[in-house]
Amino acid sequence: MRNDLKVLYNEVEIAAKVAELAAKINADYRDRDLAIVGVLKGCFIFLADLVRLLDTDCTVDFLGLSSYGRRHATDGVVQITSDLTLPIRGRDVLIVEDIIDTGITMRYLVENLKTRRPKSLAICTLLYRDSGEACMVPVDYAGFTFQDHYVIGYGLDYAGLHRNIPFVGYKPG
Ligand code: IMP
Ligand code: MG
Repeated sequence: MRNDLKVLYNEVEIAAKVAELAAKINADYRDRDLAIVGVLKGCFIFLADLVRLLDTDCTVDFLGLSSYGRRHATDGVVQITSDLTLPIRGRDVLIVEDIIDTGITMRYLVENLKTRRPKSLAICTLLYRDSGEACMVPVDYAGFTFQDHYVIGYGLDYAGLHRNIPFVGYKPG
């Protein structure tokens, strides 16, 4: 598969973007009570790279969400498949996501986490697919904005596979 892909963002470009995002987060979260919340499974590589560049104390927790009933199309149904293990009440929560497309998944998550009364809630995504329609949630830290392609690699999957590809790519045609 890897050899059939076109590279959208290579390892060097990704590393530079992650460093850029980390610098902003470091500046914004100095002396705050940062709770990183990663959205499984797609976030795992991005989050691992990002948190190692954070120089502020933080906890790291994960939750599992599923939004794709079928392979490519969002069916609008979002479910928490595994929940956080740490309370977030009163804390400065930063959600870390691999990609935001329609924003349906993220909107659901934001609404859910708000009921747990965090002190603040912000969103960081490596990728943002701009479909021309307004995203359903405001994104505080967005890495790359792109159009059209279904992308895989650097944590992102197609039918559960290809998360281990070190760059972000797509199948042409
Ligand atoms: P949304 O609810 O439409 O914003 O979809 C977001 C979720 O769909 C992401 O968290 C991903 O898990 C998945 N997703 C959307 N686009 C892609 C893609 O291009 N590659 C891999 N997963 C994607
Ligand atoms: Mg995701």
